This record gives sequence, structure tokens and C-alpha cells, in this order.
Amino acid sequence: MSRKSIHGEWSNRWIFILAATGSAVGLGNIWKFPYITGEYGGGAFVLVYLLCIAVIGIPIMMSEVLLGRRGKQSPINTMRALAKSEGASRYWQLLGWSGVVAGFLILSYYSVIAGWALAYVLEAASGAFTAQSADNIGHLFSGMLANPWVLLFWHSIFMLLTIVVVARGVRQGLEKAIRFLMPALFVLLILMVGYAMSTGEFMQGVKFLFNPDFSKLSWAGVLTAMGHAFFTLSLGMGAIMIYGSYMPHDASIAKTSILVAVADTLVALLAGLAIFPIVFAYGLEPGAGPSLIFMTLPIAFGQMPGGILFGTLFFVLLVFAAWSSAISLIEPAVAWLVENRNFTRIKAALITGISTWLLGIITVFSFNDWRFSFYFAGEKKTNGMFDVIDILTANIMLPLGGLFIAIFAAWVMRQQTSMDELGMGQGARYQLWKFLVRFVTPVGVTMIFLKAIGVL
Ligand code: PFF
Repeated sequence: MSRKSIHGEWSNRWIFILAATGSAVGLGNIWKFPYITGEYGGGAFVLVYLLCIAVIGIPIMMSEVLLGRRGKQSPINTMRALAKSEGASRYWQLLGWSGVVAGFLILSYYSVIAGWALAYVLEAASGAFTAQSADNIGHLFSGMLANPWVLLFWHSIFMLLTIVVVARGVRQGLEKAIRFLMPALFVLLILMVGYAMSTGEFMQGVKFLFNPDFSKLSWAGVLTAMGHAFFTLSLGMGAIMIYGSYMPHDASIAKTSILVAVADTLVALLAGLAIFPIVFAYGLEPGAGPSLIFMTLPIAFGQMPGGILFGTLFFVLLVFAAWSSAISLIEPAVAWLVENRNFTRIKAALITGISTWLLGIITVFSFNDWRFSFYFAGEKKTNGMFDVIDILTANIMLPLGGLFIAIFAAWVMRQQTSMDELGMGQGARYQLWKFLVRFVTPVGVTMIFLKAIGVL
């Protein structure tokens, strides 16, 4: 199989690593990880999340890259082609379809949240945080959420940015955007952790993150931790599969997957270490929900020397991190439209982008006019349709997608094929991968599902 994808190929394996890291590192690490960790009580949640990354996330990432590189097309067509060549049912292409739907749903709210970050670039640059009390910073944020038109405006700008990059294609669009941004984000986060150390509550933050208290963790929390492992690594919906399809044949799938997962996890932990000390130092609520980083980090920027510069830079980089994830969320749909409908990339990007933008309006109103609460697996959720879409995608669709990817790679695909693609012989490392995707992933995912909905 030396064929290349018709959409192009990464220049080399480092570009794949950068692109996959660009997809993985995003709002999930810096915005979502801290707030769900806060909601589900800290250490025990983090431990389950780390365990899921190691024993479910990495093996599934390897499987997804392996399927993508073997199929070399959009996830829908890849699954159809692989099912055929492996002698399996053609219904396996439904896996590709469910990924496309999940991608639309996730991007629809992702873009709204990235819009908050865009709005905060201007707030930071204008000095709005300087020397403000925690209360005032809280009011600034709730004022923004209360106005759907402001949210809609920034959501539109972010969607436009996404469409532009996706339209330009793999080499021109995607590669160029991510080369310098990831390292810059990393450095800035380390700086923020440095500030957090000076708040006097650093150790309380560390304890909250790493001291597991299992009495605080519900099964809904375990499900959320598992779902987040999929979300944060961009697994279970074909994003990593399509990036794998652009990967040159000589790159090692295992090494690259581990590298991406480690980088992603580091960014999330750094974000946690930057945020929780501030939460405790200013007497804020760790379980504040989606507003958490927007209420904590600005306090730090308002107090620290050079805060206007660092604050602006931080939100700019957050937008870039979100941007490089957003493009991977619609890439599967765009590639399919190009392959099957003969659309140009520009037309495909416009159609997918505009439909996602429309869907995003639901999230825009979730935080104000259409707000409602409900219970999920015994936990109260207060942000209406935003929470519904988040739970449906991160906690249900991605783990299910990952489960079927694992089943296909480990049970349906011939051993010869997976050995060929993984290229690590049939020794202990291959056997470990196979054991994890054959048994640990399917059993783990199914059990956590059943526990969370109360069947077990
Ligand atoms: N991994 C991204 C993040 O953590 O922000 C979100 C994401 C991107 C999820 C791409 C799924 C995906 F396919």
C-alpha cells in the first residue's frame, strides 16, 4: 500500500505529530479539563482520566491512525474500503457517518466557546482585567453570556476563521497554522503556573488535582472522565483517522501516538496547575462549570506585572489551539464531500461550515434565553442544550465510536494487516496493544456505560 491520499500528505512524520497534537490540544485541555475536574471533585477524577488515557486512549489512537493510514480516504470511505478488503459487513461505514455527525455537533458548540476566547482577547488587550476584583471579573463574564448577540457575533468570526483554513487544504491551510503555535502555548502555560505558585495557595491546588478522594467521585464522574479521554485526544469520530490517512508510511504509529497523548496530557495538567491555585486563593468555586477559566485566569492577568501583554497573548493562543482542533472536527466531512460529491475544498468547507454555524445557534441561546436544567446520571446540569450536546457527544458518541474502532482493529481486521501497518513485529509490544484493544477497551467502555446509567 504505497498509495497516497488524494487530499495530500504531511511533509514528514513531525508534521503529523504537530497536526495531531494541534487537533488534540484545544479547549478540551484548557477550558474543559479544569472545569469538569472541578465539578467532579478533583484528584479521583483526574486519576480515572489518566488511567483512561493510558489504557484506552493510546491503544485506540493507534487503532484509529492505523485504520486511517490503511484506508487513505475520508473515514466513511475508509471504513467502507477496509470492511470490503477485510471481508466484513458494509455497515461498518456507519462508523464513519456517526463520526461526521459527532464532528458537526461538537464543532457547533466548540465554536461558540472559542468565540468567548476571541472576545477575551479584546478584553485583555484593553486592560479590562487590570486590578479588578474577582467579583467584577465574574460580572464581566456573566454580562457577556447574557447577551446572545455578542456570543453569536464571536461564534460567526470563529467559524469564518475555521472555514478559511479548511478551504486551503492539508498543506497550505492546516500545516502552516500549527507549526509555531503549540510550543508558544506551552511556554505561556508554564508562565501561568509560575504565577499560580506565587498566589500562596499553590499546594492546595496541587492537592485538589492529585490527592484522590474516591468518596467524591460518582459513576457519572467516571463516565465523564472516560468521555473526556476520548474528547481530549480527538478520538472516536474519525479526526485522528483522517489525519492518519495523510501520514507517510514510514512513520511509527505507536511512537507518534504516545507522543501526542503525553503532550496533550501535559497541557491539561499544566492548565489545572495554573487555574486551581487561583480558585482557592480568591475563594472561588471549583465547580463553577464552563465559566471557570474565564473567571479565574483574568484575575491573575489583572494582578501580575505585564498582565495586559500576557493576558492578550494567552487568549490569542487559546484561540489558535481551538482553531487547530476545529479544523480537524470538520475535516472528515469535507474530505467525504470532495471524494463523493466532487466538490472543491472551498465549496465543501463552506457547506459544512455554514451548517455547523447554524447548529451553533442552539448553544448560543443555551447560556441565556433558552437556559434550562436537567439531571444526567444523578448530576444536575444547568446549561440546557449545551450540556445535552456535550453529554451526547463526549460521553456517548465518542466512546461508542472508539469502542467500534477497537472492535474493528482487533477483532475484524486480519492480524496480518494490523501487524503490517503498526510495523512493530509480533512481539510483546504488538501483543500488549492487541490485548488492550481486544479486551480492556471493550469491557472498560461497556462497564462504565452500564454503571453510569445504573444498570450494573
Ligand atoms: N481534542 C479537542 C480538544 O481537546 O479541545 C477537541 C476535539 C477535536 C474533539 C477533534 C474531537 C475531535 F475529533
